Amino acid sequence: MKTIISPSILAADFNVLGQQIQAVEKSGATYLHIDVMDGMFVPSISFGMPVIASIRKNSKLVFDVHLMIEEPLRYIEEFAKCGADIITFHLEAAKERTEETIDKIHDFGCKAGLSIKPGTPVSEIEPYLKKVEMILIMTVEPGFGGQKYISACTEKIQETRALAEKYGLAMDIQVDGGINEETASIVKAAGANVLVAGSSVFKGDIRDNVRLLAGEE
Ligand code: DX5
Ligand code: ZN
Repeated sequence: MKTIISPSILAADFNVLGQQIQAVEKSGATYLHIDVMDGMFVPSISFGMPVIASIRKNSKLVFDVHLMIEEPLRYIEEFAKCGADIITFHLEAAKERTEETIDKIHDFGCKAGLSIKPGTPVSEIEPYLKKVEMILIMTVEPGFGGQKYISACTEKIQETRALAEKYGLAMDIQVDGGINEETASIVKAAGANVLVAGSSVFKGDIRDNVRLLAGEE
């Protein structure tokens, strides 16, 4: 499986956001990770629809939107309409409305991703594996960039890949949080194929960093 790098704009310089997204595009990365935080599901607030709609006009990257918001079902239509290609939401936020949320994402023509925080066991997402295109295993507590990879999550990646294989699913397994050159090789070996990276892409040369993480020195 080829590794996909999804640079997280949470670590970008918003003063020159357009230029930084162009640099991502030139780096060979095909995804752009967009973190939406509501100050409720996570303590921080980031940005929302107007920013996504604006950057959509100048970018052909796959917009990988990570919703860290309560009751995500309320906003699926708006995120689809402002330019998301993949919409990932949290099981802990959608709770009993998880299936309905997945269906709505598909109804609006997007790919669906389902995420769990470090403390949530993989067994809780098993019932939804066949319904989503991607599982996001958070490797830090969601809410902030620049945190350290939680090693206990490596096992959860392996477990998710094993379950996908058991069901014959060639699905995407994404990881998010604390991914750098060193942890990238750990998560790849564990079965992750979509790597989100904020600080380790935007600090320094974007193009060199993306290549390093993808393993194309
Ligand atoms: C954290 C966000 C991440 C964040 C990752 O809640 O979901 O996408 O930007 O940042 P780094 O790569 O710096 O850990
Ligand atoms: Zn994220």
